[in-house]
Amino acid sequence: MTAYTLLTGGTVVNSTTTVDADVLIKDGTIVAVGSFDGIAIDGLDRIDHSGSLLVPGGVDVHTHIDSPMMGTVTADDFESATRAAACGGTTAVVDFAMQLPGKTLLESLEAHHAKAQGKAVIDYGFHMCVTDLYDNAVDEFPEIVQSGVSSFKVFMAYRGTLMLHDGALFDVLRESSKAGGQVCVHAENGDVIDRLAADLIADGRTGPASHEISRPPSTEVEAVRRAIRIARMADAPLYFVHLSTEGSVEAVAEARANDWAIAGETCTHYLTLDRALYDQPGFEAAKVVLTPPLRTQTHRDALWRGLRAGSLGVVSSDHCPFCLAEKRRLGEHDFRLIPNGGPGVEHRMMVMYSEGVVQNRISMQKFVDLTSTAPARQFGLTSKGAIAAGFDADITVLDPRGRTTISAATQQQRMDYTPYEGWTIPGAVTAVYSRGELIAKDGQYIGESGRGRFVTRAGQ
Ligand code: URP
Ligand code: ZN
Ligand code: ZN
Repeated sequence: MTAYTLLTGGTVVNSTTTVDADVLIKDGTIVAVGSFDGIAIDGLDRIDHSGSLLVPGGVDVHTHIDSPMMGTVTADDFESATRAAACGGTTAVVDFAMQLPGKTLLESLEAHHAKAQGKAVIDYGFHMCVTDLYDNAVDEFPEIVQSGVSSFKVFMAYRGTLMLHDGALFDVLRESSKAGGQVCVHAENGDVIDRLAADLIADGRTGPASHEISRPPSTEVEAVRRAIRIARMADAPLYFVHLSTEGSVEAVAEARANDWAIAGETCTHYLTLDRALYDQPGFEAAKVVLTPPLRTQTHRDALWRGLRAGSLGVVSSDHCPFCLAEKRRLGEHDFRLIPNGGPGVEHRMMVMYSEGVVQNRISMQKFVDLTSTAPARQFGLTSKGAIAAGFDADITVLDPRGRTTISAATQQQRMDYTPYEGWTIPGAVTAVYSRGELIAKDGQYIGESGRGRFVTRAGQ
């Protein structure tokens, strides 16, 4: 029997419209948005969301789940990460599939599929990381794109492990563009960073605070400007991940003003957390050893301006969780060995709502655009990112009257800390629907295990 659900009484917010409306869902797909007071359908399941905002489920296009990195593996697997995402109002992720040592890209991608299948509880896609451009690697690009993995990630930092030199970056840009894919670039000048870091170690400054000092803003800005030039030479589109600086926003804005196919994202933590966290005593600062590092208010202001102006189009979490205990085990005596990254997939939506919308930095529609519509569009998730007929019924119910308290003790992420510890913020995610199924309620996952589906993403 056809299953119909009607979500009533809410305010439906899309990236360009806000209407008081009901949402009619049939078999996991949105059928109509409107007023259906008198509707009579056998077995119709009516759910009242009066007073709440209904927004498209969050689309987080930057996560590292069950991912090998810096001598360890990220702390969340696909089950725990996607449960956490769901509880926080995110209904789709695009995760980075790392290239595995000694494996081809296709083999590495298959291994990542195996990690996600049957474990993810929300829909997911992959970007393919290219960290070793072996002979004929580019020949695999068309098959990768055709399989629905229509984006690649390359690193301009971490020489010896992840970094590609400029020639390889050029090759990846050119060949991925030919194959209909786009390239996501981690833009930092890795060689300069390595030298600054070596100097700090030689000076005996081995603690986590040195992470920030070794990665000054100019190391990002220089790489951003270089990557834009290389993308132009390759005649290829380019998407910058995790931009953190004023200079990068300016560089992307200039490129976009020239109508070049350059796009950029920033992340929740660059918008909301200050570099002062590196001044904490002992090993505490390791919690925010993430890359690029946190910056000053000047940079945060520029990032918010960039979002409002459209120079930056996406806010992702860069969920790359390593427990503090693991960071200590690996990097207590040398900050260069602390695995880079932190948690974020669970709290991206509510922190953005609170710090963005409630603080009047962005409108509610802009919030929807940055957290769902734009990332879905940018990465070819054609059935996600809007509450409209024909779209998947991925809907997050946000109650502006509620409050959310963030703590490691209660979070779903498999982590022993959160950088937002103790934050109590306005608004709460009270219900989350994924393809029409109620999968999370008041911060608890209530859906079935392993129900997430791999989403093939359209190429360019
Ligand atoms: O700090 C992070 N996230 N580091 C590793 C992954 C990345 O995106 O570079
Ligand atoms: Zn990166
Ligand atoms: Zn990342």
